[in-house]
Amino acid sequence: MTPPRKLFIKTYGCQMNVYDSERMAEALGSNGYVEVGAPEEADMILLNTCHIRERAAEKIYSELGRYRELKDAKPDLKIGVAGCVAQAEGAEIMRRQPMVDLVVGPQSYHRLPEMEARAGGREKVIDTDFPEEDKFAHLVARPKAKRGPTAFLTVQEGCDKFCAFCVVPYTRGAEVSRPAARVLAEARDLVDRGVREITLLGQNVNAYHGEGPEGGDWTLARLIRELAEIDGLIRIRYTTSHPNDMDDDLIAAHGDCPVLMPYLHLPVQSGSDRILKRMNRSHTRDSYLRLIDRIRAARPDILMTSDFITGFPEETDADFRDTLNLIEQVGYGAAYSFRYSSRPGTPAAERPQVPEDVSTARLHELQALITRQQRATQDAMVGREVGVLIERAGRLPGQMAGKSDHLHAVHVQTAAAPGTLLRVRVTESGPNSLAAEAV
Ligand code: SAH
Ligand code: SF4
Ligand code: F3S
Repeated sequence: MTPPRKLFIKTYGCQMNVYDSERMAEALGSNGYVEVGAPEEADMILLNTCHIRERAAEKIYSELGRYRELKDAKPDLKIGVAGCVAQAEGAEIMRRQPMVDLVVGPQSYHRLPEMEARAGGREKVIDTDFPEEDKFAHLVARPKAKRGPTAFLTVQEGCDKFCAFCVVPYTRGAEVSRPAARVLAEARDLVDRGVREITLLGQNVNAYHGEGPEGGDWTLARLIRELAEIDGLIRIRYTTSHPNDMDDDLIAAHGDCPVLMPYLHLPVQSGSDRILKRMNRSHTRDSYLRLIDRIRAARPDILMTSDFITGFPEETDADFRDTLNLIEQVGYGAAYSFRYSSRPGTPAAERPQVPEDVSTARLHELQALITRQQRATQDAMVGREVGVLIERAGRLPGQMAGKSDHLHAVHVQTAAAPGTLLRVRVTESGPNSLAAEAV
């Protein structure tokens, strides 16, 4: 028997890339690869990349530069680039870094084993097509390894919304939903392998409209209600949602579906109608605020999070004040915020840009406000009873770590094994986590 070859995968970007990297590792398993933790050991290095902001994309080239010596020492080493930079830049990657053997876009991963077999030496292989098939149907794990308590599961991919700043519709393609039966089968399989909590993924996950088992499309709410029936699946989350795709049934599910966790990431990007319009977001500040009222009416303790961009083209101080004011009004449990990054090929890249020092100063001000809200939200948990899904050993002896229903990191003194759902009382709130005792 030939010894297994070693694969090192480095993942950048969003959770969907994390999911995709797992699928690619499993697929390359059928070519005789096992995953390793260091590039120095590898026979193949695969970078799963992100194109969302300029810095994310540039990081890939500096990372590739670092592999120069490895490739010189081991000419058989195969280097591949997957993900959104692969999709956006294609052959340009090999022009800038000739040591790259393989470039594969997110919609072609099912072809990766065959591409890997061809790539290497003078053979360069590129695939950035958008085929019509469900790639995940071809990316099957064998053998079925045991899994930890939490897992991602992609149900929807791509985006048709074309926000003026965003590359995702170009790198991931049009919105596609996986058939419900495939999602249910994959979820059951994950649960059989030890998973207790599943986070459903999609670039616009709540736009899910997958084919139902008896024909007709299922909504995300329908899918969640069906997943909730799986024995052993005790927690469901989903991300990322778009405000315009939150339908009544999904809002209702937050109130009446106990396994659906009280946490919702609902990016708004800006609190100024003038900017939202220029961003092509197709919701207003007011429609967003009213939506949050309805969600909170269904599930009063839901923890809300968002994404924000500062310094979008033509953003004035008054626009930025509107964003701060919206944040004050909503009260977020956490948020991701970014300085606007001009992306080639997007409409906003052509518009008058805000000076960098201005967007940076706004970002810092916004982040300070979010940090205060995050701390306040965490502090308010002290004394409350919550569920914690134990994931791993904590740092101190006898301590275990996991996530609360509201996705706070929690430490508990307990002998409970990973995969156990504990009821705990929160005793302390630290900068990034809560301490709790079992009840
Ligand atoms: N589909 C999700 C998220 C997509 S990307 C949604 O619609 O909200 C994740 C986040 O990156 C976005 O929410 C946005 O805040 C940020 N982002 C996207 N493009 C950006 C750009 N050009 N500059 C800065 N931030 C950007
Ligand atoms: Fe990008 Fe907008 Fe689509 Fe989100 S909804 S992925 S921000 S284009
Ligand atoms: Fe990045 Fe692509 Fe995800 S651009 S954020 S890896 S969809």
